[in-house]
Amino acid sequence: MKVLVIGGAGYIGSHMVKTLVERGHAVVVFDSLVTGHRDAVHPAAEFVFGDLADRARLDRLLAHGFDGVMHFASFIQVGESVARPAKYYRNNLCNSLNLLDALAAAGGGRLIFSSTAAIFGNPLCTPIDETHPCAPINPYGRTKWMVEQALADYGETCGIASICLRYFNAAGATPDGSLGERHDPETHLIPLVLQAAAGKRPAIEIYGDNYDTPDGTCIRDYVHVDDLCAAHLLALDHLVAGGKSAAFNLGNGRGFSVREVIAAAERVTGKTVSHSIAPPRPGDPPRLVADASRAMSELGWRPQRAALETIIADAWRWECRRP
Ligand code: UFG
Repeated sequence: MKVLVIGGAGYIGSHMVKTLVERGHAVVVFDSLVTGHRDAVHPAAEFVFGDLADRARLDRLLAHGFDGVMHFASFIQVGESVARPAKYYRNNLCNSLNLLDALAAAGGGRLIFSSTAAIFGNPLCTPIDETHPCAPINPYGRTKWMVEQALADYGETCGIASICLRYFNAAGATPDGSLGERHDPETHLIPLVLQAAAGKRPAIEIYGDNYDTPDGTCIRDYVHVDDLCAAHLLALDHLVAGGKSAAFNLGNGRGFSVREVIAAAERVTGKTVSHSIAPPRPGDPPRLVADASRAMSELGWRPQRAALETIIADAWRWECRRP
């Protein structure tokens, strides 16, 4: 297949490009490099520098014809989305609408959209399946949910078949250590914990230890980036086979607290991770755990690197050799 990967120089996008290339697909990456890294893009992929805001550029690109488009190009920091909402509405929402309009003008297409557990807001119950109400509590989550709704509305009218994949906590790195997470600034728990283990930062802060969870720290469902990529391939296959547009929650169905992540990282690395307790981070729900049974039954998704220690071990290999 010929696949366009928008945001293919970012964390999950670059892993997706590697997966597609290794499966023999032809890949074109479209990325503004605002947050991505040119050297993260697999050399076998064609790289096109550009911004989703540039509709004329998009129209020219889509004229080449693709079997599928994967859209990873979003800003992802919840806290920043509260402080700078316009940045999130402009890019995550308006630029995504640009893409939908360009796809519609090109006669339609198949789109795999990177969504998030943040669309659920403070969950009413866990694990969270696709019937759980969507009530995001910050601009980041709202922009993602708005794009999901736009996709449902554009849908058949505009010839756009889509799959929305709601990632829970994407983590890990490619097992060969060649690619991994490289956000600047880094805000995610596992890379921060591993940077502390590696002595690249003195300690980490635990954001709140008074939540209603067994050890008082927040619980998350960590899912390996390569397992997310596998879900994208299955989602595209589903659409190519004529399957209906849909949305799927992607996680392993097991939650780990911040303290459990630190303990697992200490076991994997053999290092001590110094930590202190800080105030809770605004907008952090106490517990987010996925029910991914729909992805398993309808797409045949089977996570291969689900164990937390596997996820951390892969991330550690990357942390030890990253540029
Ligand atoms: N945490 C700390 N200290 C840190 C960093 C994080 O205690 O230095 C805690 C957070 O409070 C949270 C947990 O570790 O309880 C995980 O935090 P991350 O920042 O790694 O991940 P989030 O759960 O906040 O965010 C992730 C994605 C977002 C997405 C969100 C909900 O990164 O894009 O899940 O789906 F919006």
